[in-house]
Amino acid sequence: MTNILMVCLGNICRSPLAEGILKSKLSKDFIVDSAGTANYHSGSAPDKRSIAVARKYGLDISKLQGRQFNVSDFDTFDLIYVMDTSNYQNVIKLARHDEDVAKVKFILNETHPGKNFEVPDPYYGGDHGFENVFQMLDEACELVAEKLL
Ligand code: 4NP
Repeated sequence: MTNILMVCLGNICRSPLAEGILKSKLSKDFIVDSAGTANYHSGSAPDKRSIAVARKYGLDISKLQGRQFNVSDFDTFDLIYVMDTSNYQNVIKLARHDEDVAKVKFILNETHPGKNFEVPDPYYGGDHGFENVFQMLDEACELVAEKLL
């Protein structure tokens, strides 16, 4: 069984959405979780704009709680999807060996292989940013799920 972790900076905007979206496409047998490279929002619920856009598409992410990525996540998870280059660098910094490094992938490389495109951080923008992020993540997670099923 494959365990999948979604990672962003704060674990309140992008990665909780990615977690909720991927969970909705996979059976309950898969472990899907999310974390932030920073600890600013540990214990917090997702941003209300992420909760709202998820709800618009029938997903409830309101009960998720922010937590910080830690080195033991390399042992728990088989695939670690990051949203942007800064997330990638922060996660890779904690890698202990090549096997850890190999688990870390840009989520948008699912839809745009090899390009290392970023899911833009919507935190300081308006609601449209969250809609845009939802659509990008939905498309990418659909391809992740197809590979795993
Ligand atoms: P996220 O967005 O990484 O998608 O959860 C952010 C949330 C909070 C902050 C930055 C990005 N912040 O600076 O508090």
